[in-house]
Amino acid sequence: MAEGYIESRKTRGTFVSLQIPEDVLYTATHGEARSVSRKVRRPSKVMQREFRAQMLVNPHRRKLTADFWVGRPDPNSFPRKAWATLVHRRLQSAGSALTEYRDVAGLIDLRRAIADRLRPARSIVASPDQILIVGGSQDGLNLVSRMILEPGSTAVVESPCYQGAAFLFESFGAKLVPVRIDHRGLDCSQLPNIRNAIAYVTPSHQYPLGVTLSLERRLELLAWAAQTGSYIVEDDYDSDFRFHGAPIAALKGLDRADRVIYLGTFSKCLGAGLRLGYVVVPNDLISRARQVKTLMNNGQPWLEQAALADFMTGGGFERHVRRIRNLYLARRNALVSSLRRHFNESEIIGDEAGMHLAWRLPSHLPSAKEVEEIGLAAGVGVYTLASGAAINFGPVPEGDRYLVLGFSSLSEREIEAGIAKLAEALS
Ligand SMILES: Cc1ncc(COP(=O)(O)O)c(C=O)c1O
Repeated sequence: MAEGYIESRKTRGTFVSLQIPEDVLYTATHGEARSVSRKVRRPSKVMQREFRAQMLVNPHRRKLTADFWVGRPDPNSFPRKAWATLVHRRLQSAGSALTEYRDVAGLIDLRRAIADRLRPARSIVASPDQILIVGGSQDGLNLVSRMILEPGSTAVVESPCYQGAAFLFESFGAKLVPVRIDHRGLDCSQLPNIRNAIAYVTPSHQYPLGVTLSLERRLELLAWAAQTGSYIVEDDYDSDFRFHGAPIAALKGLDRADRVIYLGTFSKCLGAGLRLGYVVVPNDLISRARQVKTLMNNGQPWLEQAALADFMTGGGFERHVRRIRNLYLARRNALVSSLRRHFNESEIIGDEAGMHLAWRLPSHLPSAKEVEEIGLAAGVGVYTLASGAAINFGPVPEGDRYLVLGFSSLSEREIEAGIAKLAEALS
């Protein structure tokens, strides 16, 4: 009766409804295939524009016994039990939270928890008002691009650079200006003297080479932004995993001129399936960011935000990060020692932090592309910069000699066996 199939008529009894729910819920033609017109039309101008998109799902995954694909958290370490408890508890007290529109910037409990953590972890002093919850850093990059890019804008990018950022800026019609990366990060002496640009950087653990931007260069980059009236977009995707020494303060933490837009994500420290991240915007961009966010999607799902807020304020998140940092450290050590054992003149960079490292191939091995092919044929996934969602604009000397190897989702034993197998296939 509640679903509308039968109706009760006072004193007369219960009858089949005159109009059953299917009549008003479904169209009369459902299920019938429509024939598609074969007439070839000239695509409109906008449809002729081609987009490129980053590839984060490994097409080879199924046939590999050891897969060093980058940026994947350990699936067995996701805090399933705690998460189930937190979600259940919030559901029970949800009230109208699942049925109403809420603050477009995100749940205030979560924004407060993030602000409280950013201060000790990244030296960032931000008010919850400056924080917007987004669906991961890619969503954050879209928000930022809609806020400050227009066709013809200059976007300074690292070379090599994360594809997700470069391809996105390209899709907005921005002009990309690649600046080369060396062992201290972005070569700031090459920054263009252009006003109102944006510069996208990954200072904690450069993507893909893994180097850390030195303090001196951080200050140089900030001075450039202040002088040229440009914004810096700081993508801090895997900064929770630092294995040696104290982390350098984030650019946002050193920013006195309020020129840095900071992107954080929970994709690496928790899991990409959550699709949760945040943007910290300068004070003068708060209301613009809120407007653009409203235009984009009216806000993020409430339940996951609520569970995450409780996970953070209850201390579970910090415990989780400490635990997986140790796990990833042991895995990184296993990878570094396996590479050194099997390929003794290996140069390894970017292994001080993060979930992947870059391996510069010893001179006796063929090109990175060939090593990738030989590895894949032997069931071991190792990846060139281009396969590992990076775009190489050219100035990386010998870019075809580098492979990127993720270590966070493989056990130590799997790592050792995988590198031994690769060595065997290459010999
Ligand atoms: C440098 C970099 N930034 C951002 C992302 C994407 O993160 P999210 O899942 O938060 O969109 C990745 C994913 O691998 C990445 O490598």
